[in-house]
Parts: sequence; C-alpha cells; structure tokens
Amino acid sequence: MRRLPFITFEGSEGSGKSTQVQRLAARLEHSGLPHLVTREPGGTPIGETIRELLQFASHNSSMTPEAELLLFEASRSQLVREIIKPALERGICVIADRFFDSTTVYQGAARKLDRETVERLNVFAVGDCIPNVTFVLDIDAATAKSRMQKPRRRDRMEQEPEEFYENVREAYRELATRDPNRVVLINGSRGADVIENEIWETLRTRFRSLTTR
Ligand code: TMP
Repeated sequence: MRRLPFITFEGSEGSGKSTQVQRLAARLEHSGLPHLVTREPGGTPIGETIRELLQFASHNSSMTPEAELLLFEASRSQLVREIIKPALERGICVIADRFFDSTTVYQGAARKLDRETVERLNVFAVGDCIPNVTFVLDIDAATAKSRMQKPRRRDRMEQEPEEFYENVREAYRELATRDPNRVVLINGSRGADVIENEIWETLRTRFRSLTTR
C-alpha cells in the first residue's frame, strides 16, 4: 500500500498556519489523494474537552505551567492513537495543525519548563508517530500580535506579552536549525498564494507518493 506523509504545521497564532493547512487539504483533494486534517489541542471528543479547559474555562486562569503541559500531552496522546496512527496505516495523508513542536516551543521555551522533561513527555505521548515534515510559518512577534486583535474572545495564550511571542519565534527557528531534515522554515510574511505554492513544491519534491495517483 502507498504510504502518504504525516505533515505538521507550526507557528505563532496569526502566522497564517491554519490558512495553509486548509489550502494544502484543498490541493490534496484536487489531486484525489486521501487526507485528513487534525488540530491541537483537540481533534477527538476527549481532546476537545481538554481544549476548552486549556483555552477558556473561567476557573483556570491560575493553571500551572505543569498542569498545562500535561493537558496538552494528554490531548495529543489520545489524538495519535485514536486518529493519526490508524489513518497513516490506512494510507491516508495526515495534516496536523500543531503537534509536539508546539509543546517544545510554548511550554518549553516560552513557559520555561525543563526542556528535557518536555521532550521526554513528547516522546511518551506520540511514541513512534513522528511527522515526516513540519512547516513552520515564521513571522515576527509584532505582526503576530497585531493579527491576533480579532473581534473574538482572546484565549489565555493570546493574552501573553509580546516578549512571550518573541521567545516562541526564536524557539521555532532554533528547531529548524536543529532538525533541518524535518523542519522547514517558511517566510510567513508573504502572500498566502506564494506560500501555498512553496509548500506544495517542497512536498512534491520530497514525497513521490504525492506526485502519482
Ligand atoms: P491555535 O488555535 O492558534 O492553534 O491555538 C492553540 C493554542 O494552544 C496556541 O496558543 C498555542 C497553544 N499550544 C501550546 O501552548 N502547546 C501545545 O502543545 C499546543 C498544541 C498548543
């Protein structure tokens, strides 16, 4: 059976990553390639309950960084076993809107939890389910912050100061340097069409399974 890749998208809020997730899904649809999109936290009934708890519950403004870390990992471990692994095994391409690099960056670098502990928990949560490629949409912190001023309720993370998002950006860039075979840095300050083409061409160059039906 043809194996299609596990693709993850990362970046700050406001980086345009969710737009690119949707555009890639449309390209795969157009090419007749089976695919599914997941998002984190969430993506399963248990995960969606955890998402609500992490983002909006009124009693959780004092959530500790440790509790936050474990909730993200709990959501992810459910998603991997319930959705992602079975899909990949059936030859379906999985596009994930955030995966374990978000935890490395947000809980590790930005919240400053012990890096080794975060990485050990990431491995525990995902097992051998490692993305084949990860696109990081890179934009500067000020632009990211300004794009977050949307007319909707801002979640806990979006209330963080700009410095938090500078740390997020730096940590993503460091990941791309540390693991260049997997992590591809994309200049997110350009137009969505240009970015979409670059991502598609990168994928078609790397994965022959995407070029043939
Ligand atoms: P999003 O809808 O923009 O992807 O927002 C998800 C939020 O959760 C975002 O603020 C990043 C945060 N997050 C973490 O802090 N750690 C994680 O492991 C994940 C998956 C998300």
